[in-house]
Amino acid sequence: MSAGTTDRRLTITDIARMHAEGQRIAMLTAYDHPTARILDEAGIVMILVGDSVGEVILGYESTVRVSMAEMLHHTKAVVRGTRRALVVADMPFLSYATQEEAVVNAGLFLREGGAQAVKVEGGTRTARTIETLVRSGVPVMGHIGWTPQAKYTMGGQARVQGKTRDQARQLLADALAVQEAGAFSIVLELVPEQLAAAITERLRIPTIGIGAGSGCSGQVQVLTDLLGWSDWSPRHARRYAELASVIGTAVREYESDVEAGTFPGPEETRRMDDDVLADVLGVGVLDQPSSAQAAEGVARPRAVPLDRDL
Ligand code: KIV
Repeated sequence: MSAGTTDRRLTITDIARMHAEGQRIAMLTAYDHPTARILDEAGIVMILVGDSVGEVILGYESTVRVSMAEMLHHTKAVVRGTRRALVVADMPFLSYATQEEAVVNAGLFLREGGAQAVKVEGGTRTARTIETLVRSGVPVMGHIGWTPQAKYTMGGQARVQGKTRDQARQLLADALAVQEAGAFSIVLELVPEQLAAAITERLRIPTIGIGAGSGCSGQVQVLTDLLGWSDWSPRHARRYAELASVIGTAVREYESDVEAGTFPGPEETRRMDDDVLADVLGVGVLDQPSSAQAAEGVARPRAVPLDRDL
């Protein structure tokens, strides 16, 4: 089955089938209802409600600040905007610090948020958590390489992981541990392309790369980087649009139209029957003096305020 031929909600079985058929998987992040709808209608098969929402939408300096409540809020909006895409909710910092918390919080994402899977960062260190979640019936996507939630233990700055022999071996071990724990796919972030390709070759589950070269089974990008929503995008992102400048131009045009009095114009305006308004204001036909009254010098009634009868 090609994912393009079905109208129902996709599952991890569909993703596995696409992978088995050699189909490359295009995944994107989304954080709100209208954008999720556009992505879904465009045929994006997996949408990640990434905790990157903290940096690119909520204005935090790090994803570490993002809460479960915020993630749930955005997950619900994305789920409501999609009919077909498999929605993966990113488990935020410390929401899976213990096995118990992991199960409770993943349960919230699936039951309350409506997501079909969750993503957790970490390789061997989170393998047991992944195993517990999968055993509980939660589909899990792993995430290794540069893991933003570990930013403060990884040196603060996003940088390519796995360039040295030891790091590369550790990443390979991480990938295998995540797969053996039962994850249905794994994100490889900021990994040298040869290492990402070698990991992809050794795994049965699809690898989803971000800054990890074209040898992965699929790719994921932070949507705002792809759309040019800010003045900066990471080197691994291709800007397919310049939305910040499109928005800026539109907003400046609107502002000058308002200032010039040309917005709203007839196209954007509704009118009512002038007679009805005249009646409401007490200056309608029935409010005029009859010709006899006029002959007697009865004056035209004074217009009354709109709220006279209220
Ligand atoms: O939060 C996010 O957007 C992510 C991607 C970078 C994979 O985890």
